[in-house]
Amino acid sequence: MLIQTPPMGWNSWNTIGHNINEDVILENAEALVKTGLKDCGYNYVVIDDCWSLRARDKNGYLVADPEKFPRGMKALSDDIHKMGLKFGMYSCCGYKTCAGYPGSYTHEFQDAKTFASWDVDLLKYDYCWKPATVSGADLFRRMGEALATCGRDILFSACTAGKDDTKTWIRSTGAHMWRTTRDINDNWEDMKELVAMAQDSFPYGGANCFPDMDMLIVGMRGEGNVGLGGCTDDEYRLHFSAWAVCGSPLMIGCDLRKADDTTLNILSNPALLAIDQDASGHQPYNLNGDNRDNPIYVRMLENGDYAIGMFNLSEQTAWAAVDNIALDRMGLLSENKTLLLQDVWNGEEIRMEDNVYALDLAPHDFRCFRAKVIDA
Ligand code: GLA
Repeated sequence: MLIQTPPMGWNSWNTIGHNINEDVILENAEALVKTGLKDCGYNYVVIDDCWSLRARDKNGYLVADPEKFPRGMKALSDDIHKMGLKFGMYSCCGYKTCAGYPGSYTHEFQDAKTFASWDVDLLKYDYCWKPATVSGADLFRRMGEALATCGRDILFSACTAGKDDTKTWIRSTGAHMWRTTRDINDNWEDMKELVAMAQDSFPYGGANCFPDMDMLIVGMRGEGNVGLGGCTDDEYRLHFSAWAVCGSPLMIGCDLRKADDTTLNILSNPALLAIDQDASGHQPYNLNGDNRDNPIYVRMLENGDYAIGMFNLSEQTAWAAVDNIALDRMGLLSENKTLLLQDVWNGEEIRMEDNVYALDLAPHDFRCFRAKVIDA
């Protein structure tokens, strides 16, 4: 199974956490369809942790909690598929999941077959309760092999939180995406740290194994499982811009039954979705070197355009510039080329004059462009 562009969908964890059940999942799946987000490309519905009973059955099989999922997983999977969506589930490489339910350790092949029998399309695989004597790489290779031979195409979503230098071995496991950092929470401090850390994974990402900056907090507004404070609308816009410029998977984490127009507009921004889903697989870079307060992330797109995100993650006003030096670093200066910048949020077009676009960015502010290369 080859994956050319970052997966998109909805995951239960950020908002629902432990309180999952069939109704919550189906209602959010229906909302994906009704809001038009499915047509934007959000097609996976992923049940996160806490879906099973606390113990396996006598034959070692995982069992869906009958109180939360009275009809079992296959019936739910069928309903989700009938909506034209794909069905994702969750397990963990250790003895237990992060929330203490049975993990897949020593049951990898059995569990992969179980998931295949439920017509699962994606497995999010976590990194808690891992025995210290076995390496993460070995355990993820085991599940990678189990999924590859289970008889169904199942997207392998590794949730290693960047531990044990995941980025250096994750591609060898068959995983199609991997979590690069600790968990996101719905507030500025946590989110902006993940934006700053994204650059650590730039050399390792690209087609078929995407660095996952974690589920989106857009629209959570401080409510739900990781709703610890909330962000402003502009901070959510910065968040979504950064995930798209970096080419992260886009897994919505808010409760879609309550999503307002602002939230839906952010999640369906066509320019950013096109950037995120660009199939070039090119590596992003930081035009500002290792500056983590004011990164300027750039990625060359398939048609030769550039995605550019200028972020002020600090608490001070910052000078941000795409200038001669930047153009040189992007490979343009010697050819006498410059950029026509199109703002992804308001469509404004800015022709760079004298090879400079520069401005003061207020704290938490940003600009994000799709830039065309033009003659200087
Ligand atoms: C970890 C993961 C989260 C979520 C929880 C579930 O913390 O990083 O995304 O899956 O486990 O317990």
